[in-house]
Amino acid sequence: MDNSDMKQIQWFPGHMAKTRRLITSNLSLVDAVVEILDARTPLSSRNPEMDKLTRNKPRMVLLNKCDLADDKTTQLWINYFKNCGCAALAVDCKSGKGLKSILPTIKSTVLKELMDKRAKNGMTGAAIRLMIVGIPNVGKSSLINKLAGSKRAKVEDRPGVTRTKQWVKLDNNTELLDMPGVLWPKFEDQDVAIRLAFTGAISDDILDIETLAMKLLSYLAENYPASLTERYKIELSDEDTGLELLEKVGKKRGMMISGGEINTERAAITVLDEFRSGKLGKITLEAPPQKEQ
Ligand code: G4P
Repeated sequence: MDNSDMKQIQWFPGHMAKTRRLITSNLSLVDAVVEILDARTPLSSRNPEMDKLTRNKPRMVLLNKCDLADDKTTQLWINYFKNCGCAALAVDCKSGKGLKSILPTIKSTVLKELMDKRAKNGMTGAAIRLMIVGIPNVGKSSLINKLAGSKRAKVEDRPGVTRTKQWVKLDNNTELLDMPGVLWPKFEDQDVAIRLAFTGAISDDILDIETLAMKLLSYLAENYPASLTERYKIELSDEDTGLELLEKVGKKRGMMISGGEINTERAAITVLDEFRSGKLGKITLEAPPQKEQ
């Protein structure tokens, strides 16, 4: 991708250092770390330092928003993480799908050793403590609200807004450590930033909206052509540029400005909105790396 026209995303070294400290200093309070990723962008929605930060703590990955992701690729991702030695589950925190399997999976895989030890010592009833981590917008609050069974107030998770860590007790003798601080994705990789902008995980003004929509349309034409032909009733050709695709969508939807020109800005907003809300179907934006499979 030619990303020379991208604005650089700013992140704050002070906040990053604080979040790092918060995670490492609270690790000893938990039995395992639950890392939430977006099933559409499992690597791009990952904090690049998570392996280092959580060191040898048992860890599980949740591929959230699986309702929006391509099921076949989600399964490939689950296998990928398993092959890397990390248990992974697909979940949908909007409907609650998959959430019931989290604790049994943690007990039978991630914390098997601890569970066996507790059983031997007659301590099977002891609480399990989990640290929940994830970049903003990945669904941390939704997960905790769903698991806790009541709509807890959404706490702002932005740099500059301080809040303290909170323990959330669940009925099944599990305690979740909801961490303050903001985990950053791998912003310096521009393709990662673009994928995150496609899903709305980061502000879409890293690029102008039309360029962003054109890049998304080109990706879809190559990887999910049926989602475009079915939704927009357009015909695709191998030579279509992103702009031509955007114009086809705008024309089909009757988005014109005076003088007979196509309103590509409106078309871009429509494409991004419809992609993010799942109207284009279940779509994943990155496949697992081949070599590490
Ligand atoms: P965060 O705490 O990690 O920042 O994320 P949060 O739970 O606030 O979720 C961010 C957005 O993602 C929310 O949408 C939330 O509803 C949505 N979301 C979370 N999990 C899922 C999922 O599994 N599937 C789908 N489709 N969406 C999910 P929002 O538009 O910001 O708010 P709202 O739609 O809840 O009003």
